[in-house]
Amino acid sequence: MTEQTRFQLSESDLPKFWYNVMADSPVTPAPVLRPDTLEPVTPDFLSVLFPMELILQEVSTERYIQIPDEVREIYKLYRPTPLVRARRLEQALGTPAHIYFKNESVSPAGSHKPNTAIAQAYYNKAAGTKALTTETGAGQWGSALSLACNFFGLDVEIYMVRVSYDQKPYRRIMMETYGGKVYASPTDRTQYGRSVLAQDPDCPGSLGIAISEAVEVAATSGGAKKYSLGSVLNHVLMHQTVIGEEALKQMDMAGEYPDVVIGCVGGGSNYAGLAYPFLRQNLKEGQRARLIAVEPTATPSITKGAYAFDYGDTAKMAPIVKMYTLGHSFVPPAIHAGGLRYHGMAPSLSAFCNAGLIEAVSVPQLSTFEAAIQFARAEGIIPAPETAHAIRVAIDEALDAKQKGEKRVILFNFSGHGLLDLSAYQAYLSGKLEDYAYSDEVVRAAMRELPQVDMPA
Ligand SMILES: Cc1ncc(COP(=O)(O)O)c(C=O)c1O
Repeated sequence: MTEQTRFQLSESDLPKFWYNVMADSPVTPAPVLRPDTLEPVTPDFLSVLFPMELILQEVSTERYIQIPDEVREIYKLYRPTPLVRARRLEQALGTPAHIYFKNESVSPAGSHKPNTAIAQAYYNKAAGTKALTTETGAGQWGSALSLACNFFGLDVEIYMVRVSYDQKPYRRIMMETYGGKVYASPTDRTQYGRSVLAQDPDCPGSLGIAISEAVEVAATSGGAKKYSLGSVLNHVLMHQTVIGEEALKQMDMAGEYPDVVIGCVGGGSNYAGLAYPFLRQNLKEGQRARLIAVEPTATPSITKGAYAFDYGDTAKMAPIVKMYTLGHSFVPPAIHAGGLRYHGMAPSLSAFCNAGLIEAVSVPQLSTFEAAIQFARAEGIIPAPETAHAIRVAIDEALDAKQKGEKRVILFNFSGHGLLDLSAYQAYLSGKLEDYAYSDEVVRAAMRELPQVDMPA
């Protein structure tokens, strides 16, 4: 067994194809519906928001889709990312388990988000789009899209959830440094934002509201502006599969195969990016890795929500998809993992969880910070609060292996660093953070607002 700690691929190993899990999916995807008529969406309807190439990727069942050279050239700024064996964490835990993490925090934006931002900016530029609109929670997605739009000479307008805008000024400065325009949502720039502010001038905002604003601006721009989403959609998850394709090769270099593959889930993109190539190996090559998606107990879409048709945004302008959801009217508690506060979950990941191909667990905020600090002290890197959810479960798996005296190989996605989230660490270290659990009653109330879709379950 090698004593190596970092497993590095060379530039020439950078994947040439994204993996489209829909080609191998044993579950038939539910149709995507128009929010106004509840009829299946047509490419025409979607083309108001997205360029045709991304719409085609969204519905494609081709197994591999070629990554354009222009996108691979920019990926080379930070890809292939390292796979690291967390030997010092293993020692600190005294576990016989081997813990590996795929370090996506080395991208210029500090997370996995540029993997799709670069691709989306490329296809929009190629289709003649002048500007993109988007929402951002913690600011990770907004900074990734600003970076990508800057590379392709596109303007970008970012609707940033107000609570994060106030909590995370450095993310905003980062977006502006790359050339993005950032607005605290709800804003008075859109009809929907004005209607929210009229009811509650101090509204802290939510991802659902910010999506509605960004969608409204694109939909009313006469085609000059398109909308870009940082998670949830099939094409976004597919762009992230470079993570898992690289990790498969790197685990091979390490001479091991994971028993467990773990990642945090907001809309599902970083986890799908790592896990879908391993799901393919489970479905097609007889592998049996356990796949575990981790969400906060404060936003437990999979573990407490319903698997149902729901709107993608609060104003009911975005398409309706079948997913695990807490209801589109969900306004999450102000937990620090801003990127995990979305009310829904990617339809493909939802379908795989519902079919028992992927497990889901939820973990409370305080225990994630405890895990993050243990990781930082052992491995040196300070994780994003979102990533800390994956670390919590990786550590729990390693401790379980220790208790059972098992050698378990654990792989998790290190989706981002927390260097711009230090105020969250400050709150934790000074004892000011609390746990939040989402009550069953609130979930039941939100479920009454789901669209009534007459389709087989
Ligand atoms: C570091 C990090 N990890 C995870 C997520 C969650 O998003 P997703 O589930 O799409 O990967 C985010 C979202 O902003 C993030 O910034």
